[in-house]
Amino acid sequence: MRMNDLIEKKRDGGELTGDEIRWMIEGYTRGDIPDYQMSAMCMAIYFRDMSDRETYDLTMAMLDSGDRVDLSGVTGVKADKHSTGGVGDKTSLLLCPMVAACGVKMAKLSGRGLGHTGGTIDKLESFEGFSTAMSMETFLRSVNENGFAIAGQTGQLVPADKKLYALRDVTATVASRPLIVSSIMSKKLAAGADVIVLDVKTGSGAFMETEEAAFGLARSMTDVGARAGKKVIAVVTDMDEPLGNAVGNALEVKEALAALKGRYAGDLMELCLTLGSQILLAGGIAPDEESARAMLRATIDDGSALERFRRFVAAQGGDPAAVDDESLLPKAPVVMEAVSRRAGYVKRMDAHGVGVVSMHLGGGRVWKEDSVDLAVGVVLHKKVGDHVEVGESLGTIHAQTEETAGEAVMLLRGCYELTPEKTERAPFIKGIVR
Ligand code: URA
Repeated sequence: MRMNDLIEKKRDGGELTGDEIRWMIEGYTRGDIPDYQMSAMCMAIYFRDMSDRETYDLTMAMLDSGDRVDLSGVTGVKADKHSTGGVGDKTSLLLCPMVAACGVKMAKLSGRGLGHTGGTIDKLESFEGFSTAMSMETFLRSVNENGFAIAGQTGQLVPADKKLYALRDVTATVASRPLIVSSIMSKKLAAGADVIVLDVKTGSGAFMETEEAAFGLARSMTDVGARAGKKVIAVVTDMDEPLGNAVGNALEVKEALAALKGRYAGDLMELCLTLGSQILLAGGIAPDEESARAMLRATIDDGSALERFRRFVAAQGGDPAAVDDESLLPKAPVVMEAVSRRAGYVKRMDAHGVGVVSMHLGGGRVWKEDSVDLAVGVVLHKKVGDHVEVGESLGTIHAQTEETAGEAVMLLRGCYELTPEKTERAPFIKGIVR
């Protein structure tokens, strides 16, 4: 086989065979196929798309490029969750202990944040001493003992994606449905769970800005999952405004803790109840959605989810005292209110823009090697549908200096579109694809 012929075939709208796709991925992972040819192929896929069969073959070839996590030693139903990324997304911090307290095991591999979306590992490092670097043996033991554990991704899992994702990032080929599906699903399949729930975001803070594109991605991922013999459910959710109110590492941990302590009932909790109930249903733990939601709510009411979270922090070397005493988490020295200069109802929010505010304060990474400031960020007081008076606070800025705080206030004001007419939020859960 010759790579030029495969590029030409895809460029002209042809369908690649399973053997051709496997040959290409093996060659690229080994370094036999150069970046310039793979770049051309990614661009051809971007414009010509792939059939469901090609997308599945690409996913399986990528999956076979590295190791798989063997969860056979973990007892019971094993579930995993993935979010396509959003602003203020601290769902795993809440969902994992809730689901674990219902008896489902979650062996979760997570990443660090890049760009305007945060990473679960960065958030968890708000607990002094917390670590996600551990041997596979320790990881699996923690999952068995506490119901869930969160580890950093290892280098040997889907090496083809590591190379391909870096290439796509610099060749304007990230936003291609088959390339996103194969990238996400190869990693999820390698992580070994039986039940996989996907949170596919749509809106201004998401990869897929339109609902149509988000549903297309959701259908394609569930199709690949079904072909691979897994129970995969995709929930399409709104990311036109940030999830919850906090954006920034330690601030998001505080919000997740408030939810675990029963002090929060907004969109974040709704998302956890929806994703969690799909896991309990697919895992055969609950007979119907209503009882699944009731089981999950009970883990908050009886404190069992909070107890799981406390044990999880301690098991991974973090200070569990900070779970009960949130003042032990990182705190920024400057706190400033972003007061509104206008009155009206919030019509639209720029979720991506709020992520940029947090980045500007130092809460995100521009480059993979950058360190993040765990203490900074923003806590929103107004979301779509809320009324704002002149002089009322849109959000509280947590910063290292008065100067960056002042700049963040201006940036945050620019994220709000106000109107004199009463506004309403669009439904948060857009649909479920099984
Ligand atoms: N997340 C991934 O892991 N891969 C993509 O291609 C897009 C989002």
